[in-house]
Amino acid sequence: MLSAQRTGGDDSSGRWQTGGMGLYRDQILPRIVDLTMRGDDVEKARARVTAGLDGEVLEIGFGSGLNIPYYPATLKHVWAVDPAAVGRKLAAKRAAASAVPIEYIGLDAQRLPVGDASADHVLSTWTLCTIPDPMVALAEIIRVLRPGGAFHFVEHGRSPDTKVARTQDRLTPLQRRVAGGCHLNRPIDQLVSGSGLELTQLETYYMKGPRAMEYTFEGIAVRPLTVTPLAASSYRSLSRGCGRRSDSPRPR
Ligand SMILES: C[S@@+](CC[C@H](N)C(=O)[O-])C[C@H]1O[C@@H](n2cnc3c(N)ncnc32)[C@H](O)[C@@H]1O
Repeated sequence: MLSAQRTGGDDSSGRWQTGGMGLYRDQILPRIVDLTMRGDDVEKARARVTAGLDGEVLEIGFGSGLNIPYYPATLKHVWAVDPAAVGRKLAAKRAAASAVPIEYIGLDAQRLPVGDASADHVLSTWTLCTIPDPMVALAEIIRVLRPGGAFHFVEHGRSPDTKVARTQDRLTPLQRRVAGGCHLNRPIDQLVSGSGLELTQLETYYMKGPRAMEYTFEGIAVRPLTVTPLAASSYRSLSRGCGRRSDSPRPR
């Protein structure tokens, strides 16, 4: 089931720019992602990360809806957020076959158009690597989660192996260009726990493939009853760690 969507607009990554790069990013890349984000270990991770989702769920980086087949029956409704219009087209069949109503509500996880404490869960699969400022997105996730609600995620990011991390730092500028802004070197566990969410489960491992691309963080982080606002110095240091300039805007 699929319902109305907001369209148009732009975002801070310049996604709707025209020209060769814009065409690649908007038309070709979503198709590449749709074809490549599959395979045995990816599917198993999707099954694990979606287990336990229920009630009102907000999925950031919804893409072509590859998580739809894994939505548990306990899930009542999904709010989908993604800037890629082609991803939406590719998701249409899966969404139509889904028993869970899916509603597109926005283009950017850094500005979620839903009220405070309105989601039971937020889901993100391989998306925090691409969002221009993941700390702003995480602040939004905390805002929209009800107290006790949980953020379920599987993400690739910075390896603890210094040699691999160095390769990730070297490759990230190229990766950003060819993969729509994707960073290989974001310390996902530090970003999530630094945001004020409480990391209650975390598994880290390499998926099959080049180690620089495949270091994976899979976990659950709960929104505590009271959230301590992030100090400006912590925000600056986490932001620097994920490739943002130190003068990035702080989360609201
Ligand atoms: C690597 S793909 C993953 C797609 C999907 N989550 C999956 O598991 O197949 C990253 C997704 O993040 C989306 N994305 C990029 N910037 C975003 C933003 N600011 N807010 C929300 N989603 C974003 C992209 O359009 C893309 O669909």
